[in-house]
Amino acid sequence: MNPTLDEHIQRDPRILKVYLEARRRYSEFKFKHHNFGHVTRDLHRALLIAADEESVNYNILIPSVLLHDIGFCTPDFRKLGHDVAGSRLAMEILNDLDYSGEECAAVGHCIHAHKGKAELPRTIEAQILYDADVLEKAGLVFLIWGGNVISEFDESIHDFLKREIADRGSEIDRGLYTRKARELDGGRLEKVREIFQQVSKEITEERPDYEITECDLWQNSPP
Ligand SMILES: [Fe+2]
Ligand SMILES: [Fe+2]
Repeated sequence: MNPTLDEHIQRDPRILKVYLEARRRYSEFKFKHHNFGHVTRDLHRALLIAADEESVNYNILIPSVLLHDIGFCTPDFRKLGHDVAGSRLAMEILNDLDYSGEECAAVGHCIHAHKGKAELPRTIEAQILYDADVLEKAGLVFLIWGGNVISEFDESIHDFLKREIADRGSEIDRGLYTRKARELDGGRLEKVREIFQQVSKEITEERPDYEITECDLWQNSPP
């Protein structure tokens, strides 16, 4: 049976307020990939992983997952990174929704650490968010969704592949934190990295015709 939010909201009605606020903010920005659909999938995974772990504080975990990519909704993300910008914004949002300073700091840590770049996840809630988010990339479907990420950030295919190969490498070296996440991954993260490496080799070494632009068709500049 799918884990649902109902019992958590009955126990802590603030979770519903965070849910509605997060959905409103993500829907305003209409991102092609980092939208409320992505958050929904991460939340489903986080609840599955949490059910397999001891002593999870759902009052911290659920708001953290709901707000983990909220940094993309502020222009600061280009300068600071969406993990750092999102952590600050999430703490402001939660402060306005009656979360204590301690709770805001705990959620702030989860979001700050969800990429494993600004810092590493130290708490079980931060580790579950990290694993749930990595699992979004651990499937062949991400080879198709990657196109949404490219258009979302107006990236070149080279920059996308370079970043994805490096990020998947760090995640594989670091390993997933939880047993359930490792089970769900089942080696797919490694497979995705290998395919991205093959694509990169193809366009740089084997099939340079994919790199041809209009300028290559003319001795001087195009008319
Ligand atoms: Fe993120
Ligand atoms: Fe995410």
